[in-house]
Amino acid sequence: MSSIHKSGTYKLGDRSIHRLGYGAMQLAGKGVFGPPKDRDAAIAVLREAIARGVSHIDTSDFYGPHVTNRLIREALAPYSDDLVIVTKIGARRGDDASWLPAFAPEDLERAVHDNLRNLGLDVLDVVNLRLMFDVHGPAEGSIEAPLSVLAELQRKGLVRHIGLSNATRAQIAEGRRICDIVCVQNQYNLAHRDDDALIDELARDGTAYVPFFPLGGFSPLQSSTLSGVAERLGATPMQVALAWLLQRSPNILLIPGTSSVAHLRENLAAAELELSAEVLDELDGLAKAA
Ligand SMILES: NC(=O)c1ccc[n+]([C@@H]2O[C@H](COP(=O)([O-])OP(=O)(O)OC[C@H]3O[C@@H](n4cnc5c(N)ncnc54)[C@H](OP(=O)(O)O)[C@@H]3O)[C@@H](O)[C@H]2O)c1
Repeated sequence: MSSIHKSGTYKLGDRSIHRLGYGAMQLAGKGVFGPPKDRDAAIAVLREAIARGVSHIDTSDFYGPHVTNRLIREALAPYSDDLVIVTKIGARRGDDASWLPAFAPEDLERAVHDNLRNLGLDVLDVVNLRLMFDVHGPAEGSIEAPLSVLAELQRKGLVRHIGLSNATRAQIAEGRRICDIVCVQNQYNLAHRDDDALIDELARDGTAYVPFFPLGGFSPLQSSTLSGVAERLGATPMQVALAWLLQRSPNILLIPGTSSVAHLRENLAAAELELSAEVLDELDGLAKAA
């Protein structure tokens, strides 16, 4: 019996999902470009996630490009009614694997159709508009034009719910004047806590917050404090990092990424870990030191 239900549930759009999910970006090749190193292993990771109760998978058609969505389709279609697949648009890949903004109306429309086709869906559950004013972090700039295009695709019935990624507080406010924003996906983890206040505000509004790089991203978190806590609790550092996020706020939904079945199992087992107030205090020190 899987322990994932211990992570609790939260509403994403009109669906209730387990708070511990899976991010598919690591399934593409090196640099999130090209095919996976081991195709069978990638399919096995996706099937294991579903077997263990994952009901939230994060992806994008610009992972590969097209690679992770096609793997998801091959591994999991026809999809279970419980599964919510969240994708993102707003970027495209250069031939050199670079990440380029793609905000023209035709880019956004094409991206929605690419996601539909490659995932094998008639409607996308949730689409995040991935803002690219600065590829590495939120930066100000009006989102009215691209978000209006996405809202129009929602009115046409191609998209159920809309979220924002790499967004500032001002952009979230601007977005809410155009359409409902059901989730915000920004970088956040034990050591990178720029969004602390924003998370609390979104929790009060009932909006989901989905941290990307929950384990630190391409270079997973490393700290003697984290390792020390993990050792004392008989857990791994990655499990402690995920358990901390689950306890940080009820609106946080997790999408840790991995290309390994063993790491996937380890990450999902973080749902069972409870951190005491004392441990939470100790881990808070990690951000102050970062
Ligand atoms: N909106 C955005 O701009 C944005 C940006 C980046 C990512 N995302 C989304 O967020 C998801 C999560 O981010 P992420 O995958 O980049 O970073 P992450 O979840 O923070 O970490 C992934 C890295 O940690 C390793 N890892 C995973 N589990 C581990 C474990 N138990 N022990 C040791 N190492 C472990 C993975 O390697 P192995 O494969 O070897 O396990 C990989 O190198 C992505 O899959 C993607 O869907 C969104």
